[in-house]
Amino acid sequence: MAPGEDRSPDRVRSMFAAIAPRYDLLNRALSLGLDARWRRRAAREMPVSAVARVLDLCGGTGDLARVLLDEGRAGFVVCLDFSHPMLVRAGRKLRRASRRSALVEADALRLPFADGSFDGIAVAFGVRNLSDRDRGFREAHRVLRPGGRFVVLEFGRPDGPLLSPLWSLYVRRVVPLLGDRASGRTGPYGYLARTIGEFPEPALLAGRLREAGFAAASWTRLSAGIVCLHVAVKG
Ligand SMILES: C[S@@+](CC[C@H](N)C(=O)[O-])C[C@H]1O[C@@H](n2cnc3c(N)ncnc32)[C@H](O)[C@@H]1O
Repeated sequence: MAPGEDRSPDRVRSMFAAIAPRYDLLNRALSLGLDARWRRRAAREMPVSAVARVLDLCGGTGDLARVLLDEGRAGFVVCLDFSHPMLVRAGRKLRRASRRSALVEADALRLPFADGSFDGIAVAFGVRNLSDRDRGFREAHRVLRPGGRFVVLEFGRPDGPLLSPLWSLYVRRVVPLLGDRASGRTGPYGYLARTIGEFPEPALLAGRLREAGFAAASWTRLSAGIVCLHVAVKG
């Protein structure tokens, strides 16, 4: 179970429903446009394939699903999320790829798929929100085929005497202030900041992935450690 912040499904779902209308805009603004680059980098961890069936877990407004198709990493992509308003926006983004994509409204902790259904699974900024991260990893492992990759993009903690305190100040003070103001809601962006602060170190997360059954789990820090890209393989 992830410690600290209340991640009960109802709370998380209603928070994302509330910020869905401004979610993309705020992502771009608060990351200074880097979020698109990070997702593209994550998608490129999947092998090039015109036939692979890939799951975008906690897919939100479908940005990663779109990139997986654009980068030729999936022949068919399933964008799964439990927030209806987020998926509505994903549907608009994937409209032109409607024959190569599907939207599924479901819980990442109870995936409605048979064992080994996917050639790859990717999740961007999603696992931080799971009320039971280990269970989420076990579910991802279950629905992935043997040899398939599980790519996890999440926030990290930059080090360095200047960047580390600046990042901390930005996440704890600026993000909640701007986020709440621009989204017109009080709370969600404070939650975002706290969950970033609580997220485990890469080595610890890689250990949890191995514990969930993945044979190999490695990571790369991007943008001086602001985000971390984990790649795990099902043996
Ligand atoms: C920070 S957003 C990330 C969205 C998208 N992957 C992106 O890159 O922008 C997290 C998403 O995870 C979804 N989510 C959180 N917990 C979930 C769960 N248990 N099952 C399905 N979706 C979940 C939320 O609804 C939200 O859309």
